[in-house]
Amino acid sequence: MIIALVGAGGYGGAYIHFFQEGLLPGLTLDAVVEPYIEKAPAAEWIRAQQIPVFQTLEELYDVMTPDLTILSTPIPLHVPQAVFCMEHGSHVLCEKPLTPSFDDAMLLKLVSERTGKKLGVGFQWSFSDTMLSLKKDIASGVLGRPLFFKTHISWVRPESYYADSNWKGRIRNAAGDLVCDSILTNATAHYLHNIFFLNGASMESASMPTELRGFLGRVYPIETFDTCFVEGLLPNGCRFLHIASHGAEINSEPKLEYTFENATVYFDSNTDPTLYAVFKDGHRKEYGQPLSEREVSQKVSRMVEAITNDTLPCCGVDTILPHLTTCAKLLEQVPIHTYPVEDQCLQLRGGSWFTYARGLYEQMDQYYQDGTVPENAVTVQL
Ligand SMILES: NC(=O)c1ccc[n+]([C@@H]2O[C@H](COP(=O)([O-])OP(=O)(O)OC[C@H]3O[C@@H](n4cnc5c(N)ncnc54)[C@H](O)[C@@H]3O)[C@@H](O)[C@H]2O)c1
Repeated sequence: MIIALVGAGGYGGAYIHFFQEGLLPGLTLDAVVEPYIEKAPAAEWIRAQQIPVFQTLEELYDVMTPDLTILSTPIPLHVPQAVFCMEHGSHVLCEKPLTPSFDDAMLLKLVSERTGKKLGVGFQWSFSDTMLSLKKDIASGVLGRPLFFKTHISWVRPESYYADSNWKGRIRNAAGDLVCDSILTNATAHYLHNIFFLNGASMESASMPTELRGFLGRVYPIETFDTCFVEGLLPNGCRFLHIASHGAEINSEPKLEYTFENATVYFDSNTDPTLYAVFKDGHRKEYGQPLSEREVSQKVSRMVEAITNDTLPCCGVDTILPHLTTCAKLLEQVPIHTYPVEDQCLQLRGGSWFTYARGLYEQMDQYYQDGTVPENAVTVQL
């Protein structure tokens, strides 16, 4: 199996780390495409391993045709690069978000079907032991009917997070390409997608909301939003709530509570790396540690399995449509509340400046506990 990685800096470093740390037994990294290789933290390791580095995809495909090409590049490159790789004979694992537009996602699906090449999307939880065994238990009815899934993330970000980027928090990047970047498509995307994924009718599918309401806010001076309170309903009757911000005072790692008829699933990565269910009869079942490097690296090993066994990738184009649609409709239809300057605080932490909205963290916590969104949340037409 020949594997190539496109984009070795930024998040591409995580893929290199999987290989460096031996998390992908039996698999090797055979080529890298990266125009700025000297800037990549793993440049020295890549050189030491004598992994060939190419400036462009065209140069790579002149020399070899990877069985699997991993795309960890900026969002506007996903469509042209995925099309190029599939048309030149490779299966593709593309980082999330696959594309900001539904039409582009459909185009990629068509190319995948026409070329017979698989296209996986790198939402790592959808490939992980933890979530796949939980999903199997949901499908078998062990936990009972899903009733209410909620997630909470308060990831503080310094001002430089947006100020130093030409695409974060923007509708279009500096070159004019559509990115529609927000906290919901980027940092906390995994946790909203996971709700749809676990409620999917089959192992590879995800559930499209039938009702959606949202309150969107921005603490930082960006085009889109860095704060969101989102709730909705899925066709199986499961309600969901996703609360997230980059502009609250306190940092809090992802936590979730998924309530079923017979059990509740808990995960609070602030205190415990293990996701587990507590059943009504009191017994506890541990599913795993979904943020561990081993489980995150399974997006590569399970994509390879899908290629080898000719099965569907755990997360493909259809799987991401509920998340893509939810993000797009919210951005289109919900006005974004700008937190007034008088409610903002500036704080120096570890040499970086952070802005936060006074009282926002407490508000997020309260709504998470109450299981709802602010009253002025807007209903979205789906
Ligand atoms: N799954 C996750 O948890 C996770 C986390 C972070 C980022 N991501 C995703 O990973 C992708 C990359 O994000 P990033 O923050 O690393 O972006 P980035 O802007 O840092 O770019 C990544 C790399 O792509 C390289 N690159 C640029 N143009 C290229 C080209 N034409 N060919 C090959 N390489 C090129 C850049 O030099 C850089 O090294 C995005 O889709 C992002 O959303 C996923």
